[in-house]
Amino acid sequence: MFLTKLSLRKLRNIKEAHLDLNKKTNVIVGENAAGKTTVLEGIDILSRGRSFRTNKIENLVNQGKGGFYIGATIGKVEKKIEVEKEKNKTKILINGKEEKKQSVIAKELAVQSIHPNSHSLVEGPPSERRSFCDWGLFHVEQDFKKLWSSYIKILKQRNEALKTKDLSENMWVEKLASAGEEISTMREKYVSRLQTKLIETGNYIMPNQELNFVYERGWNEKMSLIESLKEKAQLDSDRGFTSVGPQNANIKIMLNGHEAQKVCSRGQQKLIANIMLLSQSKDFYEKRNFPNIMLVDDLSAELTLEMQEKILERLFESKSQVFLTALNDSVLADILYEMDTNVFHVEHGEIA
Ligand SMILES: Nc1ncnc2c1ncn2[C@@H]1O[C@H](COP(=O)(O)OP(=O)(O)OP(=O)(O)O)[C@@H](O)[C@H]1O
Ligand SMILES: [Mg+2]
Repeated sequence: MFLTKLSLRKLRNIKEAHLDLNKKTNVIVGENAAGKTTVLEGIDILSRGRSFRTNKIENLVNQGKGGFYIGATIGKVEKKIEVEKEKNKTKILINGKEEKKQSVIAKELAVQSIHPNSHSLVEGPPSERRSFCDWGLFHVEQDFKKLWSSYIKILKQRNEALKTKDLSENMWVEKLASAGEEISTMREKYVSRLQTKLIETGNYIMPNQELNFVYERGWNEKMSLIESLKEKAQLDSDRGFTSVGPQNANIKIMLNGHEAQKVCSRGQQKLIANIMLLSQSKDFYEKRNFPNIMLVDDLSAELTLEMQEKILERLFESKSQVFLTALNDSVLADILYEMDTNVFHVEHGEIA
């Protein structure tokens, strides 16, 4: 879904702001430290309860001012969603009624972000790529979240039993293996579907380069999970935790036959991360039939103008509602001014 209105109060340096949004493209322009990234963070918090810039939501509270408020109206359905951060509590409201689960908002408001640290999707540990994959599955596969939660619960129980040398550990193995296989099958299917989109988008942004995914499921490829768990039984018992399963999966990203993580420059890593996110957002639209939201912070960092333009073109062609930040007087800002966008000027936390 897309947003039609956004209100922010006491969020970092923003005291109070009300934005009437464009269904397609919104540009936030200002000097350094004006509050541009803060606007994008507000949208991320609304959807995921977290910001792409920090895991600590407390960091966003305006210093010495108690708590913050973020509110938005979702288009078409005219639903109002609000997040209020008070001292030790975060309150979520949907149409004025308190909601306990963040995932209820996350389901409707699918937010992805391209930001100066996006390269960690390529360079970072496997957990980064698992999160990327599971974000997609959460949004396009109805049963994924339930299945994943139940797998994690069984895994914890088994690990607890392994730690305390409790023989009931054996009880969990079959359940664990069956849920683990199911998760793995869903992920493999999803990754191979994304692969087609990765090639399409990749050909446009990085022509003549071969980009592909290799899904590593987290245990010996020649065995079923139950076989692998049995093989590792002694090791797991010695260590006190389960050493194989989808919690160890990885998506290896290959560029021209080499592992991107090991051979790519920072700029290449950024491009690949952007290609991955664009591919995922395309898949999202095909499956869900409504737009996601794409936050794009500081696109110019470490990318040539030609590359920025290619990414922008792809973004504008996509169905996503896009929020971009740009510095005053930057070439990026000039390009964006010429398009059919809503432009917001930010100065010392004031938005016009
Ligand atoms: N918790 C906070 N309370 C008050 N002000 C804060 C808080 N956290 C950060 N700030 C300030 O808010 C301002 C806006 O930060 P923000 O990162 O949004 O700027 P920006 O416009 O994205 O800048 P840049 O172009 O450098 O990326 C900065 O001056 C920052 O120091
Ligand atoms: Mg910024």
